[in-house]
Amino acid sequence: MKYIAFVTEELEKNKFLSSFKELEIDDLHINDVLIKVVWSSLNYKDALSAKGHKGITRNYPHTPGVDAAGIVVKSNNSEIVEGDKVIITGHDLGMNTNGGFAEYVSVPYNWIVKLPDALKLRESMIYGTAGSTAAICINELIKHGLTPDKGKILVTGATGGVGSMSVAILNKIGYKVIASTGKLDKVDFLKSIGADEVISRDEVFDTTGKPLLPRRWAGAIDTVGGNTLSTVFRSTDYHGIVCVLGLVESSDLNINLFPFLQRGVSLIGIDSAERGLDIKKELWKKLSNEWKPDCLNEMVKEVNLLDIEPEIELILKGGQVGKTLINCSIKN
Ligand SMILES: NC(=O)c1ccc[n+]([C@@H]2O[C@H](COP(=O)([O-])OP(=O)(O)OC[C@H]3O[C@@H](n4cnc5c(N)ncnc54)[C@H](OP(=O)(O)O)[C@@H]3O)[C@@H](O)[C@H]2O)c1
Repeated sequence: MKYIAFVTEELEKNKFLSSFKELEIDDLHINDVLIKVVWSSLNYKDALSAKGHKGITRNYPHTPGVDAAGIVVKSNNSEIVEGDKVIITGHDLGMNTNGGFAEYVSVPYNWIVKLPDALKLRESMIYGTAGSTAAICINELIKHGLTPDKGKILVTGATGGVGSMSVAILNKIGYKVIASTGKLDKVDFLKSIGADEVISRDEVFDTTGKPLLPRRWAGAIDTVGGNTLSTVFRSTDYHGIVCVLGLVESSDLNINLFPFLQRGVSLIGIDSAERGLDIKKELWKKLSNEWKPDCLNEMVKEVNLLDIEPEIELILKGGQVGKTLINCSIKN
């Protein structure tokens, strides 16, 4: 049986080309469960993989897509059976295992979360890795005692995938959110998904180098890294929590010990891909119920898989607004 996949090939050293190919299902590396992909979603990491970033994907040809939601067509695991609706986010999907930008994926059973009853397959991929990562961050804030009464939470890169999901979920569960963005023409969008205050990303980019800055937020979810993260950290209130997860500005971090020692601020590293399946299942339940933003279906742009390439270019330029949902039922 044949299927269509978006395939990135290495033509020569450091020269990559992506195109749609018709492949044999038998050529998919065989894992426990074969899934007909219905929806995927676009993440920054997928765009890097599609451009030949060897820190994400070592070997090409390769199909990107760290997210997939679909229907099981074949399984050698007794708990996951034909016809089950399932979600896969992270693990090695789309990294060195062929990913969700295709009509089929084949994955180990222990990467799979069954779709919770209260969630639609489409909604699961509006969330995708971005929503799952936002949920992991918010869970960390709560675990460390940063409840809504403790003060405002800053989200950087707020219009992006993880950023917009963080704003919307935090708002849903009662937090006051400050959204930092480079897109000041998207203030209305950010307010519509739950930001109480929108600030320019320039305001979160200190150039004085002072070890401590005025206290502005109780905690933060930072998708940006670099000097932005350093500024966020030095501006966090006593006993605040900063979740560190992204590096779209830079993977460098220039800080000193004063925010740790004089304000008791903690930096919490987030790795959503390899986060255990038990916690993922628990958080997907919350995302299907009490954490589900009312605006979930409005913060999405839907594209067919065949139209993915301009979206990859856009996300690489920092132009993503909300989530890009990929319909993997190939249009005629
Ligand atoms: N650790 C984990 O488990 C994990 C999971 C998911 C993602 N990530 C990482 O998190 C980051 C965000 O991922 P994503 O999928 O949400 O990406 P995204 O949709 O592209 O969002 C990134 C946002 O950051 C802002 N931005 C872009 N370039 C910037 C720059 N030079 N300086 C400051 N802000 C900039 C933009 O928002 P504004 O215009 O609103 O400022 C952009 O929309 C990536 O580095 C990704 O690899 C990590």
